[in-house]
Amino acid sequence: MFARVARRYDFANLLLSGGFSKHWTARLADSAAKSAAGSGSPALSTTSAVPPVHHGRCATTGAAEAAGATAAGAPLSVADLATGSGDVAFALAERLAATGSAGARITGLDFCEPMLAIARERAQSISHPTLPVPHFALGDCLDLPLPDASQDIVTIAYGVRNFQDRARGLREIFRVLKPGGSAHILEFSQPRRWLRPFYYFYLRALLPLIARAATGDKSAYQYLGASISAFPDAPAFAAELRAAGFATATFTRPTLGIVAIHKAVK
Ligand SMILES: C[S@@+](CC[C@H](N)C(=O)[O-])C[C@H]1O[C@@H](n2cnc3c(N)ncnc32)[C@H](O)[C@@H]1O
Repeated sequence: MFARVARRYDFANLLLSGGFSKHWTARLADSAAKSAAGSGSPALSTTSAVPPVHHGRCATTGAAEAAGATAAGAPLSVADLATGSGDVAFALAERLAATGSAGARITGLDFCEPMLAIARERAQSISHPTLPVPHFALGDCLDLPLPDASQDIVTIAYGVRNFQDRARGLREIFRVLKPGGSAHILEFSQPRRWLRPFYYFYLRALLPLIARAATGDKSAYQYLGASISAFPDAPAFAAELRAAGFATATFTRPTLGIVAIHKAVK
């Protein structure tokens, strides 16, 4: 299904979300970058050989942190799961560079090759010298091709709703995070009660029609509406994160709760 809509995916996203999708992606990237900034160690500043990066926090923090190193001196490892055409990975690259983690290694994983092909094309057009260039690879979120405790940060936008086995996917995210690492999850949620009748009408009746005009594919967007309605609300999803092993799971609900941004710490 994602392969069918890949070429028109970004445009359809922007259109169907009324332009909000960029804003939500930015909020997710901000959340992850904030956690990344907290995982560096100014104590390493005098020993790092990484050249300084002239962005934001760099002037006041250590060079290792400025370059995106962790307290152990290794580059910050960030995985964007269900990365699709790479929107979150690219937003992360910009945020991490701006908040002093330009040396971070960003890996975007997805099991849909046509989506990854678009992400790779976009990566080739990055020419900014201090932006980390995300690397994109094939990977199933239910069986991640990443070692245990290997990632400082995991992000995922509009991915968990599509998992065949959500509990297993959340356990995989937990497995690949380092202790103290954090997962940042953007997903559609159940909006404020008064908005629900209008919102569900939009999802069921209007969205598939607009989507068919924009992408030529009505059924993919009928699925979208149905999967959003069936997804747990933010407190219930936070409980699923805790059940997967996370020590804490908090969330914010921008735009009247149409989406939720969850942060879960291992
Ligand atoms: C709605 S798109 C979101 C793409 C991107 N994160 C974004 O914000 O635009 C969902 C993506 O999740 C991927 N996906 C769904 N289930 C997956 C799984 N089990 N493993 C890897 N990718 C998966 C699909 O291939 C698709 O590219």
